[in-house]
Amino acid sequence: MSSITFLPNEKIFSLNGENYSYVMQIKDGYLRHLYYGEKIANEDISSLFPQFLRAFSTNNFINDSFDTFSNEFPTLGKGDFRNFAFLIKTDTGSRLTDFKYEHHEIIDKPKETILPNLKGGKTLVIYLKDAISNIELNLYYTPYDKGVVRSARIKNMANTAVYIKKISSFSLDIPNNNYELVYLSGSYARERQIETTPLKPGLFEISSLRGTSSHQFNPFIAIKEKHTTEFSGNVYGFNLVYGGSFSLSAYTDQYDYVRLMGGINHADFSWQLNPKETFITPEVVLVFSNQGMNLLSQHFHDLYRDNLIKKTKLPIVFNSWESVYFDFDEEKLLSLIDKSALLGIEIFVLDDGWFGNRNDDTTSLGDWYTNIKKLPNGLKPLINRCKKHNMGFGLWIEPEMISPISELYQKHPNWVLRDSRHEPIQARNQYVLDLTNKEVIDYLKNTITKLLTENDISYVKWDMNRSLTENCSLTLDADNMEETHHRYMLGVYELLQYITDKFPHILFEGSSGGGGRVDPGMLRYFPQIWTSDNNDPISRSKIIYGTSLCYPLSTISNHIGDEITHANGRQTPLEIRTKINTLGPTGIEFNILNQDLSILEKVKTKFTDYKIWRNLIIDGDLYRLENPFQGDIFSFLIINREKTKGHLVILSSNITTNDKTYHTKLKGLNPKKQYLINNEKFFGSTLMNVGIPFRHSFGNYMVKSYYLEETL
Ligand code: GLA
Repeated sequence: MSSITFLPNEKIFSLNGENYSYVMQIKDGYLRHLYYGEKIANEDISSLFPQFLRAFSTNNFINDSFDTFSNEFPTLGKGDFRNFAFLIKTDTGSRLTDFKYEHHEIIDKPKETILPNLKGGKTLVIYLKDAISNIELNLYYTPYDKGVVRSARIKNMANTAVYIKKISSFSLDIPNNNYELVYLSGSYARERQIETTPLKPGLFEISSLRGTSSHQFNPFIAIKEKHTTEFSGNVYGFNLVYGGSFSLSAYTDQYDYVRLMGGINHADFSWQLNPKETFITPEVVLVFSNQGMNLLSQHFHDLYRDNLIKKTKLPIVFNSWESVYFDFDEEKLLSLIDKSALLGIEIFVLDDGWFGNRNDDTTSLGDWYTNIKKLPNGLKPLINRCKKHNMGFGLWIEPEMISPISELYQKHPNWVLRDSRHEPIQARNQYVLDLTNKEVIDYLKNTITKLLTENDISYVKWDMNRSLTENCSLTLDADNMEETHHRYMLGVYELLQYITDKFPHILFEGSSGGGGRVDPGMLRYFPQIWTSDNNDPISRSKIIYGTSLCYPLSTISNHIGDEITHANGRQTPLEIRTKINTLGPTGIEFNILNQDLSILEKVKTKFTDYKIWRNLIIDGDLYRLENPFQGDIFSFLIINREKTKGHLVILSSNITTNDKTYHTKLKGLNPKKQYLINNEKFFGSTLMNVGIPFRHSFGNYMVKSYYLEETL
C-alpha cells in the first residue's frame, strides 16, 4: 500500500510505495528535495544533508544557497544557475518569482482534467505562493505502489495577465552515482531503439518539436547505475503522459548532482495566463527499481494497466494496408473477408483508401464518406459479410488531417494550421487541421459520430501521418500564438475523450506512421498502438524490446507481414514472423488471396495457439531474458501473475557455424513448482538456474517458442 506522511515538527513529507521512498522538507519556507530511492524509514533525515556555503554561491540562507539547494521546483534568477523548472514573465517584464510554502492537503486524486491522467490514489498537494506577484504554484504528488505521479499547476491570482515561458511537469535532484542515461531514439520504421550514455557534467536533453511525442525520441528517460542489468541495479525511470512536443533532460552539476527535468517543450512556447486562470501541466510518472531495468518496466506496465489503459481482449485483426494498399473494390474485400474468417481472424480492418476520392495519398483526407467509385454499395455489404462470419469490422481514419485536394479544404481553407502570411507546409501531401479552433473540433466530433453511428464498427485505427510544422493558428491572437501546439494537443484530447466516451464498445488503436505517437497520454484513449510500419520480425524484435521498457505488451500491436518485408526488403520464414509478431495484439498484414494453403494453415494454427496464451499478454509479467541490442539473441518470457503459465520465445539472428550451446535461464517462476514444458517436467528452480538449451548453427535465423504450465 502506498502512503503519504507528514512530520509536522520537522516539516518532512514522505511518499512511500512498495519499494521506494520519496522525501521532501519545507526549509526556510522553500520546498527542498531530500531523497528518492529504495524504501527507508519515516524519520527525519535532514541532518544527513549538511549545508554550507561554497565560493561564488549566493546568500539565500544563513548557511546555504540556491546554488546547491535541491529545490523541488527550481527557479531562475535567484542563485540557482542550473536548469530551471519554470519561467513566468509578469506585467513588469520581470521573470523573478519567489514561491514559498503556504499549506498542503491530502485529497482524492482529481478526476479527468483536460489532459489525460492516471486514475485514483490519494494525492498530496503542496501549495506554494509568490506573495509579491500573487501567483500560486501547486505541486501534485500521487504515490502508487509502483511509482509516483507528479504534475504542477500555476494559478494567476494577480489582476493582470502573466506569461508562462516554461513550465515543467517535474524537477528532481539526485546525487550522481556513476549513472548512465537510458533513452529511446529512432526514426520512422525504426522506433524506440535503446541508447545508453554516461552522465558527464553538463546538459543532456532529448526532445520533440514535431507536435507529437515522435518516432525520434520517446518521452522516456531513465538513469541507471553503471553495471545495472535487466535484473540487478538501481534505476530511476521518467515517462511523460503527453503526446505533444516535449523535452526531458539531465543536468549534471559542479557537485555531481543530476537534475532530471521534463515537460512540455518550452522552445517556441508561451502561455498567456489571465487573472484567475490555472495552467495544468501534463503528468509525469516516476518509477524506481532496485532490481534492474526489467522490474522498472514491470512497474510501468502495472501502473498503466491498472490506472490508465482500458482493458481489451486483444482481438486478432486482418489489416488491408500491406495486402492491397489503395487497390481494392467490394469484390476483393469480400474475398479477403471470407478468407480471413477461415484463419480465425476476429476483426477485419479496412485501412486507408475507402473514403472521398482516395486512390493514393494526395487527396481526400477530411472527406469521411465512402468512396463510391470503389465501394458503390458503401460499407454495409462488408460489415454484413463480417457479421455473417461472426467477425467485427474495423475502419481506418486520420481525423486530424486535411488534403489540399478535398471537399473539406474547398469549403474551409482556413481550417489548417498556418499563419496569415506564409503558405503552409505540406507533408505526405497533407495539411494539419487546426484543432485549436472549436469549430474544427465540433465538425470532427459530428463527422466521426455520424460515421460510427451509421456503421456497425467495432475497431477504429486512428492515424496521424505527419509532424506539425507551423506553431500558428488563424484564430489565435498575437499574444496567444505560441500556445498553438499545446492547444492542438488539448484539442486532440478533447476530441478523443468525446469520441471514446461516446463509443465505449469500439476498440481504438492509435497510429502515427506506425509508432510516432506512442506515449502514456495516447494510451489513455488507445489501449493499443500500431508500433511500427516495419513488420520485419528481426527489426520488430528490437522495436518491441525498446517499446517494452515502459509500455506493456498488451499495447504493442504487431502484424504478421509478407515474406519479404515491405519496409526493408528482408526475407524471413513464416515461423519467425508468426512467433515474433504475436508478442502483443496481433493480426495479418499480407495478401492472403495469393498464398499457398500450407502457409494459411500454419497461420491458422498459430492463431489457435495464440488464443490459448493471449491472456498472458493482457496481464502477465514480462521478463526480458536476452537483449538484442547487446547481442544477436532476443528472448521474452511472459508469465501470468499466479506464476502457473508462461510463454517463452527465443530468436537468434546471426549464425556462428558449429556454435556453442546456449542456455536461456528463465525468471519469475515458482522455484518449488514443477512446470510442463516441451513434454518434459522441470522444477521452476531448474528452469531458472540451468535454463533451456538451444544451438544456432544452421540457417539465417532460429526461433523457438514454448508454452509452459504448472503441473503436479
Ligand atoms: C500509416 C500507418 C499504416 C497505414 C498508412 C495508411 O503509415 O502506419 O499502417 O495505415 O498510414 O496510409
